[in-house]
Parts: sequence; structure tokens; C-alpha cells
Amino acid sequence: MSFVPYDRPVRAAFVGLGRIYDLNVRAYLDNPDVEVVALVDPDEKRRAQRQVDWPEARTFASVGEMGASGLEVDAVEALLPIPLHVDGVVELLDHGWHVNLQKPMCNDLAGASRMVEAAVSNDRQLRVMENYIFYEPLVRLKQIVESGDIGEVSGYHMKMVGSGLGGWEVPASSYRWQFMQMRNGRGILVFDDGWHKLATALWLFGPIREVRAWVGATEVYAGVEIDAPTTLVWEHDNGVRGVWDISLAPDMYLRSDYYTNDERWEVTGRKGFARVNRCTGRGVQQPSLEVYTDGEMRAFHALDDDWASSFRDSGRHWLRWLHTGEGPLQWSGEEAVSVLRFALAAYASSEAGGVGVDPATVE
Ligand SMILES: NC(=O)c1ccc[n+]([C@@H]2O[C@H](COP(=O)([O-])OP(=O)(O)OC[C@H]3O[C@@H](n4cnc5c(N)ncnc54)[C@H](O)[C@@H]3O)[C@@H](O)[C@H]2O)c1
Repeated sequence: MSFVPYDRPVRAAFVGLGRIYDLNVRAYLDNPDVEVVALVDPDEKRRAQRQVDWPEARTFASVGEMGASGLEVDAVEALLPIPLHVDGVVELLDHGWHVNLQKPMCNDLAGASRMVEAAVSNDRQLRVMENYIFYEPLVRLKQIVESGDIGEVSGYHMKMVGSGLGGWEVPASSYRWQFMQMRNGRGILVFDDGWHKLATALWLFGPIREVRAWVGATEVYAGVEIDAPTTLVWEHDNGVRGVWDISLAPDMYLRSDYYTNDERWEVTGRKGFARVNRCTGRGVQQPSLEVYTDGEMRAFHALDDDWASSFRDSGRHWLRWLHTGEGPLQWSGEEAVSVLRFALAAYASSEAGGVGVDPATVE
């Protein structure tokens, strides 16, 4: 692609002004790299609510209206419900705008191909943003692992407990499309939250050659099943093995400013371990990163471990990247397909009774 970096503020539009706008917007506030020129959402109340942040921006009820308005736009922050990602992103790219898309990219490889091809044919950038790999405790965990401080890596473990009480309000309208996703076999824990966990695995230890999975289901309301208990295990090309266990604690209160996810990452090396104790919620209240070696525990007390900061930094990375074109997008559309393949391999494995599946072979 012949991308020409911008030497002026990028003219950006938010498309989708729902719950996650509250965090994605942090990259745009007080950022000289960008000028927010438009806000798009069919919901009039959302448009009025977000206009307070950007009084100069024009508002539109649809992407079509924005396209027809003649407004100059360079890039879009796409915060659409997952079922709209494929058609929505293709439409945005066809208008000639770069796209920073929220995860998960989409539900299947055919949709992912359409999106990547639309980026190539329109000569535009498609980024699938991943905020977890900008979360400072995880960034430091990666640095510590790569420094050799805990010795050669023996394996690692991720933990996720979806709890039912606490956190911020999620609008009923968001649950409607999440239920649609669940009915289509793309559950909120394994696929939606899972996108982050699988992305951190690929980011930490590289490509994966085999995945084994056992995806469970728990009915929480009549006709609504959450995809837990679930366990995934896998092996990277470099031989490192990972495991991710997902449990549901619907009656557990978890203190959180955002979603009520109790999460952990623990990398074990030959001479010690490094552990991130929390991320989205504030479950374990000791320092967010601890490193154990030689009989001593080192605790990191001064990290920016507010989960929202990872959105700010991921978004800033994108807006800066548009000015330089240098370095990894984290993630480009093509890289995001490897996260999708990882998830699809887990589903294929579970459906086949937990056999090993190579993500490269999933259709
Ligand atoms: N990175 C994370 O941790 C994280 C967390 C939550 C959500 N997300 C992702 O963010 C995206 C949005 O999630 P959300 O929770 O904000 O959903 P939401 O339902 O709260 O908001 C979606 C918004 O899109 C609007 N919309 C619907 N159709 C539209 C269209 N055709 N054009 C423009 N706007 C339209 C809706 O009116 C709504 O305001 C999803 O992809 C989701 O997976 C990511």
C-alpha cells in the first residue's frame, strides 16, 4: 500500500457512540494529532450526548449521510456492534477513509477477507485495535519475560472470571447484539473478551501451532447461555504452552470502574514467575504486577494500571502512526486475522471433542 503520512492533524469521525466511546475517546482528547470532525450514530440521544465533547463536530445519523455531506474525513474510529463490523468497515473503506476498528474483527474468515481486500483495493489502512497490549502492567510483563529475569519460559496461565455484580452500566441495546452473537456461537467470554486474551498470547509468544479447547455453557436466564466453564490450551511455534481458564461467578461482586472481569496473567520461568494481578476490574488489590525470583517478590507500585489508559495509549498509537507510517500498527487487518484463526481453532477443537487443531488449517 502507498500510505502517505499526514503532516497535519488527522480529520477523524467516530462511527458508533455507545458504551465503549467513553474509553476510545480518551485517545482523542487533548491530542494535537487529531481533529474530531464528525460523530455518527442512528441514536439521536447518543449524538447529543457526545456532541458535548466535540461542539464543533458535525453529527450524522448514518455513514451514508456523512459520505454524502462532502465533509473531509481522513480516518474513522469504528465502534460498531460486532454483527455490523464487516459491512460497516467495507463501507467506510470504500468511502476512502482509514479505519481503526474495535475488536473482535468479525465472526469468520470470509468476513475478514472482505475487510482486508477492501483496505487493499481502496489503498487505505485497516487497524483492528487491541488495547490490552498497551496496558502498562502487561507491557512491563512482556519486558520482564524478554529480559530473561525469570529465566527461560516454562509456560503460562491466563485466568478470567466473569462476575455478575458491580462495574459500569451496560445499555440493554448492547446486550441485544451480544445475544445475537451468542446464538451464532460467538460467546461473550470466549470470543468477545477472548479476543483480548488470545491477542496477548500471540503478542507475548508468537504464532501458535496447536489449540485444544473445551467450551462449556451456563444458562443465566431462560434461553441465554454464557460460554463458561471453558478451558483452552495451546502451544506456540517456539514450544511455549499456554492455558486460559474461564469461569462464571454470576453472584460475585467485583469492584470495577468498567466491566466486572477478574483477570490474571502468570508467566512461569525456570527461575521465577511474573504475574499481572488484574486488568479491567479491581479484583486483587495488591500491586498490579509482581515478579518472584531467588526467594524474593518484587512489586510494582507505580504503574498506570487504570484499564482505560490502555485505550488512550492504543488510540494515540494509531493517531501517531498516521503521522509516521512507521512501526507495527498493533494490529493490522492481516495480523488480526491470526487472532481470529486462534479463536476459530478453539471452536473447531471443542466441537471435535478437544482434539488439537492448527489455526493455520481452519476454514
Ligand atoms: N476493547 C474492549 O475491551 C471493548 C469493550 C467493549 C466493547 N468493545 C467493542 O466495541 C464495539 C462497540 O461496543 P459498545 O459496547 O460500545 O456497543 P454499544 O451497543 O454500546 O454501542 C454501539 C453504538 O453503535 C451505534 N450504531 C448501531 N448501528 C450503527 C450504524 N449503522 N452506524 C453508526 N452507529 C451505529 C448504536 O446506536 C450504539 O450507540 C464492539 O465491537 C465491541 O466488541 C470493545
